[in-house]
Amino acid sequence: MSPSSRTRGSLVLETVRIIARESYPAGQYHLRLEAPRIAERARPGMFIHLSSDASGGFRRPMSILGAGQGALEILFKTVGSGTRMLSQRAVGTRLSAIGPIGTPFEPDPEATWILAVGGGTGIPPLIFLLERLVALKTRSHLAFFGGSELPFPFETHPRHTSFPAVDPPASRSLARLDRIGVPSALASRASLPGTYPGYVTDLFSRWLAQKSFTNRDRCQVFSCGPKPLMATVQEIARGRGFGGALCLEENMACAVGGCAGCAVPIREPGGLAMRRVCVDGPVFPIERVIFGDGV
Ligand SMILES: Cc1cc2nc3c(=O)[nH]c(=O)nc-3n(C[C@H](O)[C@H](O)[C@H](O)COP(=O)(O)OP(=O)(O)OC[C@H]3O[C@@H](n4cnc5c(N)ncnc54)[C@H](O)[C@@H]3O)c2cc1C
Ligand code: FES
Repeated sequence: MSPSSRTRGSLVLETVRIIARESYPAGQYHLRLEAPRIAERARPGMFIHLSSDASGGFRRPMSILGAGQGALEILFKTVGSGTRMLSQRAVGTRLSAIGPIGTPFEPDPEATWILAVGGGTGIPPLIFLLERLVALKTRSHLAFFGGSELPFPFETHPRHTSFPAVDPPASRSLARLDRIGVPSALASRASLPGTYPGYVTDLFSRWLAQKSFTNRDRCQVFSCGPKPLMATVQEIARGRGFGGALCLEENMACAVGGCAGCAVPIREPGGLAMRRVCVDGPVFPIERVIFGDGV
């Protein structure tokens, strides 16, 4: 069964309503949307195609940060006209959404470690993944590494969970994950207090260097964020023999598989194949994604 046919039957068009809205520095917004039909189908890695009004015009793809009790959470950064209009919508506004779209993360239930590495607006689907795994009482060890050059649009606090020290230190963690027992560490090149001063992939590498892993094929890495970040994560995973998946972002027109505008080359068992990020992804096995010249 192709990935797109696995999810096609669950897609719905729903008029959703903003029930909570918070703004963060540097044009970042967190919305909670009343969206019972999409919320009950949503799984980590999937996204919605969201309009900034109820008419359904100018939809923009947004990862699902959380889903439960009839509501969805999204977190976005204002970039251009679509996200700017969305940022101006007040609590109570009705918007049109299509979703949940795409293939979800499918972590191995037998994985010893599930490591999530995210950057910027790639962080939301990874938080959803880790929270869902905790809710499902996973036996895998979990850890999150997040990078941002903007102030983190989540509460951070000094870490309560145990985490191997790295040098220079990264003392703060995401409170949302800390509270459910998932250790996290943050990196930024913008001198944010308590963060590792550099790329999140450097922080991740330093952390890995201090750990010894048995059954490396049972360690999985999940990543979402800018392409250079995911390319480095792929390289690290390849070097250590870890599996996992990457959640890709591409410009999307239809976001439901109709236009092929989001197609990227993916390594398949029979050779390279063009795959649509919206419905064949956005989550692809880590070793199959091609960056740069495809080496
Ligand atoms: C799967 C996926 C998940 C994502 N998740 C998140 C997330 O969780 N948080 C987040 O912040 N971002 C996320 N993004 C990125 C987000 O979708 C973009 O930042 C957003 O689409 C930018 O829209 P904009 O109109 O503000 O920016 P723009 O750069 O103005 O527009 C974005 C796209 O719309 C087109 N467009 C703009 N105006 C028009 C027009 N008048 N007519 C036709 N086309 C037009 C542009 O050509 C461009 O392709 C995700 C992207 C993908 C693909
Ligand atoms: S955006 Fe149209 S097929 Fe993916």
